[in-house]
Amino acid sequence: MVFPFLKPKACCMASLHLSARYRCSYVIPRCTASSTSQSGISIRSSDLVEKEYADLQLKSLYAPSDIGHVRIRQHVNPLSASFSVPVQSPDWKGIFTDCTLPLMVDIGCGSGRFLIWLAKNSPLHRNYLGLEIRQKLVTRSQFWVKELGLRNIHFMFANVNVSFEQLVSTYPGPLAFVSILCPDPHFKRRKHKRRVVQKPLVDSISKNLCLGGQVLVQSDVHEVALDMRNVFDACTDVFEHVDLIDHSSFSCDSDGWLQCNPMGIRTEREIHAELEGATIYRRMYQKTRHHV
Ligand SMILES: C[S@@+](CC[C@H](N)C(=O)[O-])C[C@H]1O[C@@H](n2cnc3c(N)ncnc32)[C@H](O)[C@@H]1O
Repeated sequence: MVFPFLKPKACCMASLHLSARYRCSYVIPRCTASSTSQSGISIRSSDLVEKEYADLQLKSLYAPSDIGHVRIRQHVNPLSASFSVPVQSPDWKGIFTDCTLPLMVDIGCGSGRFLIWLAKNSPLHRNYLGLEIRQKLVTRSQFWVKELGLRNIHFMFANVNVSFEQLVSTYPGPLAFVSILCPDPHFKRRKHKRRVVQKPLVDSISKNLCLGGQVLVQSDVHEVALDMRNVFDACTDVFEHVDLIDHSSFSCDSDGWLQCNPMGIRTEREIHAELEGATIYRRMYQKTRHHV
């Protein structure tokens, strides 16, 4: 097992229409979900997010000033020409204190606080790389990394559907963990090709992940979770679902979804969705055979 069960979170409450739920961004402070508790107190998801990451003690939540309260676009089109140029691999030695450590990559890391929390609190010795297509989020995440003085985490602007292979194949250590958490749903059928989980990306993950390495996928949109599940389930030559390997640590419900969050921390999207009563559908795969 790669990540310890630190504090699995429960989910709750009533649900809203899915696409309406998705219109409420987790990165724009003024636009947050809220729910009313039994005692009549209104709970804002932005407050829950701050609570979740409180121990990061980030002094400057909205710094730097150039991105501060500026509205960050909620979606970009990863297929547009402006995102088709692969990014160069960085000099890994200049980024991490020890670039031979196992690497965790969070694909579509959003604000990055989930990964920063892991880099700061996980007892595992590893490096963390957040890949995100919205540059302003990357700028802010890197600002926080500097503020906390962390040398085991780095954020990069990248369209993973264009740059993932190049980035991970040049990293000197093993690729040990990949997470794809609450990816943009792109609800309309004609826009499904914009979804991040596409066969070439899955092939690249299967090829580059070390033996024993793991992949966690999750979504609060059942159809998106199923879509990801179908692609990974089909890779029986490389992956096994973790409950088949370690049943005592990873139990699934009757439909085969993991019952607990195995990371010990929730992502921002996850917090918003759970406040609105959504179920988080998760699958976690382990590479048990070499990719051929
Ligand atoms: C719904 S958000 C979820 C963010 C975070 N994982 C969470 O659970 O809170 C999906 C993120 O993926 C990013 N994204 C979408 N397509 C991407 C791509 N092709 N490459 C990199 N990032 C992408 C989006 O910009 C967005 O920040």
